[in-house]
Amino acid sequence: MKVFLETYGCQMNEYDSELVRAILKKENYEFVPDERHADIVMLNTCAIREHAHRKVFGRVHSIHHARNGKPVMIGILGCMATNLRQEIFEDRSMKIDFIAGPDSYKRLPGLIREAAGEGDKPFDVTLSEFETYEDVYPSRKQGINAWIAVMRGCNNFCTFCVVPYTRGRERSRPVANVVEEACRLADEGFKQVTLLGQNVNSYRHENADFADLMEAVSRVDGIERVRFTSPHPKDFPDKFLELMADNPKICKHIHIPLQAGNDRVLDLMDRTYTKEEYLGLVDKMRRRIPDVVLSTDIIAGFPTETDAEFEDTLDVLRRVQFDFAFTFKYSERKGTIASRKFPDDVPEEKKTGRVMRLNELQKEITYQKNRAHIGEVHTILLEPAMGPNPEGRFVGRTDGNKLVLLPLGAFRAGQMLKVRVTDATPHALRGRPAEV
Ligand code: SAH
Ligand code: SF4
Ligand code: F3S
Repeated sequence: MKVFLETYGCQMNEYDSELVRAILKKENYEFVPDERHADIVMLNTCAIREHAHRKVFGRVHSIHHARNGKPVMIGILGCMATNLRQEIFEDRSMKIDFIAGPDSYKRLPGLIREAAGEGDKPFDVTLSEFETYEDVYPSRKQGINAWIAVMRGCNNFCTFCVVPYTRGRERSRPVANVVEEACRLADEGFKQVTLLGQNVNSYRHENADFADLMEAVSRVDGIERVRFTSPHPKDFPDKFLELMADNPKICKHIHIPLQAGNDRVLDLMDRTYTKEEYLGLVDKMRRRIPDVVLSTDIIAGFPTETDAEFEDTLDVLRRVQFDFAFTFKYSERKGTIASRKFPDDVPEEKKTGRVMRLNELQKEITYQKNRAHIGEVHTILLEPAMGPNPEGRFVGRTDGNKLVLLPLGAFRAGQMLKVRVTDATPHALRGRPAEV
């Protein structure tokens, strides 16, 4: 059987797709790059915001259309599976054959067999308190960076967020098991690993915390850089900050989601910190690691957020001067605490206006921050360029995760290269090999 697998959403979902590939390849399924040549099309879905949701519905229809009557089995995996099981099956026009939630991928071969039979369409969206897939080695594309999920699920229940419902409770993998995966990746030529969790600082296995885990992974020979995403501002221990400051392999980039700058809104979101506490945390990070690169996530238009309260978010952006930021319009998600308690009352145009203001301000800050690097020398890790005409072109990332574009040259993927930054845009730096 030939499978086409498409992935939406975050890196955790990318990682899960690699798990799915490994699980099905073991059962002799073959993966193909084109849906038209597949017997089974699987969509690994995301439920975080509305457009992701609509995109998948549209996609299922487009697959049937492209097949022009030729039979194909369609499976829905991932975060929408859990959330929308009822609706997906009730909407007969959707023609879905099976559904598997994020903790059920080991059952996929069985689900596919059942789906091929006569009975009801099968699903398994059970959430597990234990499944970490520690016994599955993901089937990855060869590359420079590999993701490793070190913990799954989330216990935070931020009121806007669907993840605790789609991915269940927090659980972590043993340190030795993660280190083993990193060693194998190094043997295969990967140079960087990024440890993933919805909430990485909640990582805990027996007596080991996230700092212990990062430290252990940083000791793997052949892995030059270790990154992580994402921590929650409520728990960024000094121990971890010290480790970051002192350990040259741990990259000095922290993605630390703010969500909003106003205390009343933060409280309604149940983020458990105030604006001042967040600013205090950033100060501490900058004091200990002066050149740390900081990025964030913001939600604009949370229920009842006023214009004046939104100004507080802009104020934090101005004061912190993030290197970059991801901005989102609040999107009500079914089943979340916010959807039950607060009406989604900020008009769409207002949300759009707020996101535009955030983006305008941040674009200027990002540009200034990038320009400040001109003249500096950075060590970058090279990877093949993507996009139009990538042939023979390489790009690299600084320790702080900024993209550096290079002129054509005799470079190779995975090389660590010292470059001097010659120019900057709001999106990237330009550099050339530094004469040393
Ligand atoms: N676990 C991560 C966040 C994962 S979701 C963390 O807490 O850091 C990624 C981002 O999507 C969130 O940081 C938030 O900014 C955004 N997001 C989540 N739910 C949303 C919603 N209902 N509407 C709009 N944006 C949302
Ligand atoms: Fe969602 Fe909050 Fe958990 Fe992040 S920490 S996944 S925003 S509930
Ligand atoms: Fe990720 Fe989307 Fe699920 S952001 S955790 S795939 S809801």
